[in-house]
Amino acid sequence: MRHQAPRGTRDLLPADTERWQWAESRARDVFERYSYREIRTPMFEDYELFARTSGESSDVVEKEMYRFHDLKGRDLALRPEGTASVCRAYLEHNLASEGRVHRLWYLGPMFRYGRPQKGRFRQFWQVGAELIGTAAPTADVEMIALFVDLYEAWGFENLVVQVNSVGTPETRQRYAERLRAWLEPARERLGNDSRQRLETNPLRILDSKDPRDREILAGEFSDQPMPHMLDVLDDAGRKRFDEVLVGLTGLGIDHRVDHGLVRGLDYYTHTAFELHAEGLGAQSALGGGGRYDGLIEALGGPATPGIGFSIGLDRVMMLLEERGELPLEKQQSIYLAAMEGTRSQVPTMARALRLVYAVDYDLEGRSLNAQMKAADRSGARLVILLGEDEWEQGTVVVKDLSSGEQETVELEHLVEALDRRFEPSEGSP
Ligand code: HAM
Repeated sequence: MRHQAPRGTRDLLPADTERWQWAESRARDVFERYSYREIRTPMFEDYELFARTSGESSDVVEKEMYRFHDLKGRDLALRPEGTASVCRAYLEHNLASEGRVHRLWYLGPMFRYGRPQKGRFRQFWQVGAELIGTAAPTADVEMIALFVDLYEAWGFENLVVQVNSVGTPETRQRYAERLRAWLEPARERLGNDSRQRLETNPLRILDSKDPRDREILAGEFSDQPMPHMLDVLDDAGRKRFDEVLVGLTGLGIDHRVDHGLVRGLDYYTHTAFELHAEGLGAQSALGGGGRYDGLIEALGGPATPGIGFSIGLDRVMMLLEERGELPLEKQQSIYLAAMEGTRSQVPTMARALRLVYAVDYDLEGRSLNAQMKAADRSGARLVILLGEDEWEQGTVVVKDLSSGEQETVELEHLVEALDRRFEPSEGSP
């Protein structure tokens, strides 16, 4: 039987990984300039860590967890997201003792057992950031600025971030009651899931993709407009949200308050934000995040505020590929071609050149013609041909595959000739 990658997963082949690495290195540069440091946590954790933080009634925990028992019966889960793990590590290693505020970033695969569709995978990649240790609204502004600057580093333009405040657990409780009362007359017309959530967690209805629910949320059934979270915030919550909005405007970051934005995980407090893209169908969220001031306490630590986001790299890459916006870096590589009498020189020369350049050559003693074809296919910029007569005279032929030019170069001047060829020409980026 021939195997296939499991449903909802896929392989990134070399041509894909080259593009992904470009995006990853762009992200790394932005994080460095924002003074964020990378953290790597395990891909599986105690199941309880996610159940306690994401929320028992969230889709992630209720339906999408890759939960398993290991051979000793430990109750574990593949991580569906990174925030809980980062906070667990922050506590476990007492990072607070090394300074109050920590700026952290991460990149890696996450796992959610959802129904695969365009832009939704069971193993997907997130790049994310967490800023732990401060409740200052300026931290929220920095986080959203970082979020936007990452997309801009990948070439996205004209971004509008959606923001909302989800308040505190108390204000959320108040809002849930108002929303429940408002939706009550439409109860029977809600989808099954939402009807149930009217009892357990009415805020989740705002997130529903069911067209019946969307229609009801548009509000035509009622002569009252849908209640807004912002209207039930306490004074302090309202004030800090306004400060965040002023900060965003001050940085020239386009944003729009979205009263329906609630996020799918339970740990959020105050600021929540998302970015959506057209053309991705139902799975349009390119990334999102928010504040989680109660999370570390819920994990048994001291009350410690935090805010962060993650971006779905699969979706970002899909969009960039669809738009044809991925710059393919020109390879600065060399193909070494040889004739019968010089073939034995190739491995030594390749090894020396590989100290500096990317070098490829034929391993199977094929004809010069076959080697030149392979050079073309390899995408190499230059061919160094070890001709028999030239070799006798201490020279080689350097051929530039992009221009077709070729020159004979003395071996002792080879490095200078290569450097000259690889020098960026004027006007190139
Ligand atoms: P999230 O909104 O659940 O937030 O996920 C963030 C992003 O991950 C989504 O906007 C989407 O782009 C991507 N994503 C989620 N599920 C899938 C999937 N099945 N396939 C492909 N992409 C997917 C979080 O995970 C929070 N940890 C964000 C955060 C960090 N909040 C505070 N700090």
